[in-house]
Amino acid sequence: MGGGGREHALAWKLRQSPEVTELYCAPGNPGIAGIADCIDIDPSDIVELADFAENLSIGLTVVGPELPLILGLADEFGRRGLPVFGPNRAAAELEGSKGFAKDFLKRHGIPTARYHVVSSMDEAKSVIESDDVGMPLVVKADGLAAGKGVSIVANREDALAEAAKMIEDRQLGSAGTRLVLEEFLEGDEVSFFALSDGHHVLPLVSAQDYKRAYDGDEGPNTGGMGCICPATNLKADTFKMIVKDIINPTISGLAAEGRKYQGLLYCGLMLTSEGPKVLEFNARFGDPEAQAILPRLKGDLLPLLLEVAEGRLGKHRPEWTREPAVSVVLASGGYPGSYETGKPIKGLEDGTIELGEAAYVFHAGTKNEDGNLVTAGGRVLAVTALGQNLKAAIDLSYQHVERIQFEGRQYRKDIGLKALARLTGG
Ligand code: AMP
Ligand code: GLY
Repeated sequence: MGGGGREHALAWKLRQSPEVTELYCAPGNPGIAGIADCIDIDPSDIVELADFAENLSIGLTVVGPELPLILGLADEFGRRGLPVFGPNRAAAELEGSKGFAKDFLKRHGIPTARYHVVSSMDEAKSVIESDDVGMPLVVKADGLAAGKGVSIVANREDALAEAAKMIEDRQLGSAGTRLVLEEFLEGDEVSFFALSDGHHVLPLVSAQDYKRAYDGDEGPNTGGMGCICPATNLKADTFKMIVKDIINPTISGLAAEGRKYQGLLYCGLMLTSEGPKVLEFNARFGDPEAQAILPRLKGDLLPLLLEVAEGRLGKHRPEWTREPAVSVVLASGGYPGSYETGKPIKGLEDGTIELGEAAYVFHAGTKNEDGNLVTAGGRVLAVTALGQNLKAAIDLSYQHVERIQFEGRQYRKDIGLKALARLTGG
């Protein structure tokens, strides 16, 4: 379920499974249409989706985006005995409410930034004036805000202004009626991915996400402009520490609170001088992280997802290619602000996924108009390449990026470069 680049990557990987006989995607996109039957149901129409799955006796439903999970899709499917990959509403609250996630972390002694949750300007003022979490301060909307819910402010005045935008002016609607005011953490960011069936945990891989719109980590936050997998800033012992001190207690803490987590847990972390600390959780694969992670997975994805859905994780062990992956997003000019759509896409044959050896293109915001592929969203395509080393993967991915043209095309030219400089001591 879903219609972005992440779902294209999931559908592509699942299509390769010998166990997959039929594949449907709601609503899908022109890339997905080449490998699955797209059905015109919105991912938030939970009852309609469950009816569809029930009528066709669908063996597994894989949920791409967070919204249907937070709305309770897995609960509805569960009630009807339909296998589903993705946490239920109570477990997905880890992504749906940052206030819930912070209180949960605190209850279970899992490392995260110091914070206060506030739901009025008076409360916000008293926290900001008390200087309890210091400056700079991170102001976060409690609810889903599509990458627009976090701002980092340098002084009290700006903190109050940010809080007022959300609480008084309702700039983010109901997502911003409650806020988390959080200590600013210094360090390197890393994303961590694990599967859980509610009890068992299977760590997958790490990745580094490029969230800002422009080169050099400048400009506004976006859904993600690129990604490298694995992260180059994560040592093996830190990987183990994250599993032991963060992922395992999160899954067991949720289970103890009656919120059994069955799905993919995406944990955003800051590697601080005091060790890794949680920045945020997501209840699903990342976009474009999935487009970089899945091409590195050797073998079949389906048995892993089925084990999660059926609560029996442990038999299948994923194997990863040693080759790193780099994924670069091609966006419409102006993204994440306003942009035009309907621009013809050149250099990409309809239905192409594999761009030659070890390079792939995943569709996000595209559509077919009179038989031509045109842009239809902010993030349009993601190009992923694997290489013998990070440099080879970066070079190959940009070779293909530069070939694919559309008016206003916008992309970051520095995906992976900082990590490469660190690796080579540059
Ligand atoms: P989030 O949506 O919570 O991941 O926040 C978006 C981005 O804001 C993160 O990727 C970080 O770059 C930054 N950020 C969030 N929380 C903090 C924090 N406590 N300290 C420093 N940076 C943060
Ligand atoms: N790329 C960030 C996310 O999927 O949340």
